[in-house]
Amino acid sequence: MFPDNGAEGVAVDLSRIDEDPVFASRVEQLIKLSRERHVNSFSQIEWPESIPDDEWWLPPELLSVHGTEHAAALSERQLKLLSKWECINAFSLNVEGERELINMLSARLYAPDLPEIEHYIHHFIDEENKHLWFFGEFCRRYGGKIYSSKKMGVADERFGKEMEFFLLFARIFIFEEIGGYYNVIAGGDTRVSPFVRLIHQIHHADEARHITFGRAVLTQSKSIAFAASPAAECEAAIAHLQRFVQISIEALYQPAMYRDSGIAGGVALRRALLADPARRDHHASALLKRPLKFMAGIGIPLEANPA
Ligand SMILES: [Fe+2]
Ligand SMILES: [Fe+2]
Repeated sequence: MFPDNGAEGVAVDLSRIDEDPVFASRVEQLIKLSRERHVNSFSQIEWPESIPDDEWWLPPELLSVHGTEHAAALSERQLKLLSKWECINAFSLNVEGERELINMLSARLYAPDLPEIEHYIHHFIDEENKHLWFFGEFCRRYGGKIYSSKKMGVADERFGKEMEFFLLFARIFIFEEIGGYYNVIAGGDTRVSPFVRLIHQIHHADEARHITFGRAVLTQSKSIAFAASPAAECEAAIAHLQRFVQISIEALYQPAMYRDSGIAGGVALRRALLADPARRDHHASALLKRPLKFMAGIGIPLEANPA
């Protein structure tokens, strides 16, 4: 690993990340796994005609109302219907995030002065392209729509090349960790309708590798980006990621999913839930625990809850 050598003023070039032997062997291993575990989702997923509304599409503990008085006021039938629309929302967020991710990653393929990580990035894009397809297909077949959150409109600041590279992978990492939390819990819960569970499991099988890659690339690029950037840009970068965390959390409380579940006052409900101590505790102690612990470990302190 490259030292954080900003104090000595010795610049370390981003393009040399791939020269670090630990990083290089990890990427080599991930490429091997992507090849061995390659799944052709286009031909292998068998789509059922429908998924019943009276089954769980997400475990009740994953619902945005869980732990609050709002959940207690809903019948099991209403909670199951809400689980359908919360699942469509979670998968819609994957569509949105993966489309952005493919766009941003492919723009950096073979770019000069960037590390030679193309071999793995090709697998990354290949896998995300399949996810984007099956999440979009799922939302349209069983929900008749893909929700829009406008969640990705945060990449508006101008940063230097090193910081932009770091921030791209940091946003991808946070996005994938949040999705991964849903995949692991819903994919392992036998109460969840079998086909929905299967989609969570297929996704998680690839995502575990992407998250491993994210951790490796962030550990390297954080030191380089922060050594190469003025203090004001480092501060702006942390604020940028904080905003991304907040927008990501807020996107899980999409008012349209309450409306589609027949629950009135979706905008007010979203506001109440985002302020609810039980939900704020869930964000900090469960949903974002892993990614924020990692980010803190590389020197990026982030809060789980909107201020
Ligand atoms: Fe994905
Ligand atoms: Fe991914």
